[in-house]
Amino acid sequence: MTKSAANKIIVALDVPSEKEALQLVNDLHSNVEIFKVGLQLYTAAGPGIVGGISLLSRIFLDLKLHDIPNTVGKAVESAATRGVEMLTIHLSGGSEMIRAATTAAKGNTLILGVTVLTSSNEQTLRETGISGTIDDQVLKLATLGVENGIDGVVASPHEIKMLRAELGNKIKIVVPGIRPSWSAAGDQKRFMTPGEAFEAGADYLVIGRPITAHKNPREALERILEEVSG
Ligand code: C5P
Repeated sequence: MTKSAANKIIVALDVPSEKEALQLVNDLHSNVEIFKVGLQLYTAAGPGIVGGISLLSRIFLDLKLHDIPNTVGKAVESAATRGVEMLTIHLSGGSEMIRAATTAAKGNTLILGVTVLTSSNEQTLRETGISGTIDDQVLKLATLGVENGIDGVVASPHEIKMLRAELGNKIKIVVPGIRPSWSAAGDQKRFMTPGEAFEAGADYLVIGRPITAHKNPREALERILEEVSG
């Protein structure tokens, strides 16, 4: 399982510069296959960072696109040309926007849908005009995404079972909010350990600070791989 977990764990490169990101990729790429580039690194280093990292590994570009369908479609095309393997969009953009993304990806880039951010609570939903519960909204948006061709969803650990039961096995479930038992929780409130999240049905785990902020990132990654292989 250690070998297969290496392509199921995605390291989030939430660092402020290209230099730090490439240092982590160099340290870790022999043990993990996919790295996540998010808004912080992308806006600091520019889109060239994708090319730099893709020389050594596969890329998950977490830009959470949400715009008019034409703009989202064109952005997806550009990302696909750069060799991005996974890309996020906000499912609250609606069916036409989701279809623009999935059509533009042409199967070259996996489109992952974001439902309700884990930083939102029911008050956030009310403020933005949504009257249902968080679970209702997550399920509604995930279903809309599947109907319009997405390949997977980004979900909190506690949503995995509900989504798997409702959406079946074809959809990929990508899960952040992961904390090994030996790591500080930080600002993640509803987390699971890597083993618990795989057990619940996650396809991929996104792990950032437990690895990247560890004094020895490679050691932290190896410890996680060892734990999930047990
Ligand atoms: O450092 P940590 O393991 O908390 O990093 C988790 C990563 O997953 C971050 O890049 C964060 O932006 C992302 N993420 C998240 N919760 C979501 C969606 C994405 O923590 N709902």
